[in-house]
This record gives sequence, structure tokens and C-alpha cells, in this order.
Amino acid sequence: MNRIFFALPGNEDLTKSLCERCQGEYGVVSIRQFPDGETYLKIESDVQDKEAIIVCTLCNPDPKLLSLYYLSQTLKDLGVKSICLIAPYLAYMRQDKRFQPGEGVTSVYFAKLISTFVDSLITIDPHLHRFQSLSEIYSIPAKVVNTTQLIAGWIKKNIERPLLIGPDSESKQWVSEIAKQAEAPYVVLEKMRINDSEVKITVPQIDKYNDYTPVLVDDIISTAKTMLETINHLKESGMMSPACIGIHGIFANNAFFNLKNSGINQLVTCNTIVHSSNQIFIDELLADTLRSSSL
Ligand code: R5P
Repeated sequence: MNRIFFALPGNEDLTKSLCERCQGEYGVVSIRQFPDGETYLKIESDVQDKEAIIVCTLCNPDPKLLSLYYLSQTLKDLGVKSICLIAPYLAYMRQDKRFQPGEGVTSVYFAKLISTFVDSLITIDPHLHRFQSLSEIYSIPAKVVNTTQLIAGWIKKNIERPLLIGPDSESKQWVSEIAKQAEAPYVVLEKMRINDSEVKITVPQIDKYNDYTPVLVDDIISTAKTMLETINHLKESGMMSPACIGIHGIFANNAFFNLKNSGINQLVTCNTIVHSSNQIFIDELLADTLRSSSL
């Protein structure tokens, strides 16, 4: 298979790693802004009849979207056979319904837009809550890759007597699976979101787990309020200092600092978003998916 990999800025390490693991070609593209803020883009590699893979994680998506669109349009213009987008973190999955009258259901609009300019999508643990599957909103083939096995492996290796804790009902899907694979018990809490940066968490009776290490597992850490609120409740319940695992560490504003200083003993994320907390690496998982997929 004649595959050529392109990295949008910030995705170079993962792209190189995938390229090596899948024996693909590393595509050269230069992207810069004109003085007036418009985007200039030039592809230096020969792409004719090749399968292009664009790697672009979609945290802070709005400024990335136009470059992604221009790159894919240029690739099509220059004769690629197909374009697959690897977005380790897929944005806009949380506004999956109209919570208040007049709101835009941006999950749907974003999916519609992406589906118009790439031919397929591979992503890691998207926030599927009210949608069961990406095919409900993406009209292109979309493959979901799960990190449960990697996270369970990390927990088994690094945490003694873990008690897995999911902060809300939607986390049950991955927390229960990770717990099974890590051979550990789990509890799922109840969360009520008050606004963008305020949540209320209810913790059930967990005294019987006092000699376990709580391991908070969430798919996204954004403001970190979900984790911070949970940590406070665990402290009040006399639990040991917890470890926190986020699949996608967005860390908006001071979230990383606040979490690091909240009395936790470890903070770990997957490298779906490049960050100093990355300790669980998705490279081989993605490479495996690419090797075995016809996307
Ligand atoms: C939402 O339901 C997700 O699973 C996370 O719990 C949420 O996105 C975390 O957001 P924050 O870090 O802002 O509390």
C-alpha cells in the first residue's frame, strides 16, 4: 500500500512514529500565515495516486480546522487516491444535544463538516454519550480505537490495590472494562453539571475500600473540575491519595496546575494530546489499526 503521512503542526512525533511503524512515507508540507492572517500551504511531496493519512489531534479545534481543510483540498487537487484523518482526540463530541432552547448541536455540525472533506476517520475513545456510534453523525467510515487495554496494563504495572472510580454514568462504559482487565473493583459516581466549569459529584459509601488506592479514570480532563470535585469527596471519605488518569488531557487554563496541587499522587494521560503528563502511548495501537484496516 502506497501511504503518505502528513502531520498538521504539533502532530509531528506521532506522525513520524506511525510512519516508521507502518513503513509509510513522511509527507512534506509547509503551512504558514500570510501577514494578513490568511493561510499559505505547499505540499512538497509527490502524492499522486497515494493514500494520504493526515494526523491532527483536534483539541482547540477551531484554529486547526481551516488548515486541515486546505491540506485535504490540496491533496485531492494533486491527485491522492483517498484521505484518512487520524484525530487521536476528536473535538465537539460533548454538545451532543440541545440542552437549552436555541443552542447549536455542534457535534452534528462538526461531523457533517469533517465528512465533506476527508474520506475516513480514525480516532481514540471519542466521547460517545448520547450517540452510540460515530456513524450516527459522521457519514464517512469512522473507526474508534479503545485505550482500555493500555490503561488497564498501566494500572496493573503501577498501582497497588487499585479501586477504579468513574466520575459519572457515561464513564461506566470504559471504567468497567478497564477494571475487568486490571482485575480491580470499580465504583461509578453521580455527576451533575451546573455550568461549563462547575460540577456537583455524589460519592456513594466507599468505606470498605479504605485500604485501596483510588484511581480516577475519565475520558477528558478539561477544566479538571470533575476530578477536583471527586478528589475532595474522596478526601472527606478518608480515602488514600488518588491517582488520576485521563485519556485526553486538554487541561484548559489552570487545570493542570490545580490538579497537580490537589494532593493526588499521580496524574497520567495518553498521548492523544501531547502533554508532559503523557505516560500511556497510543502509537502502536494506532499503527496496528492502520495495518489491519482498509480505511
Ligand atoms: C464529560 O462528561 C466527560 O466525560 C468529562 O467528565 C468532562 O469532560 C470533564 O470535564 P472537566 O475536566 O471540565 O470537568
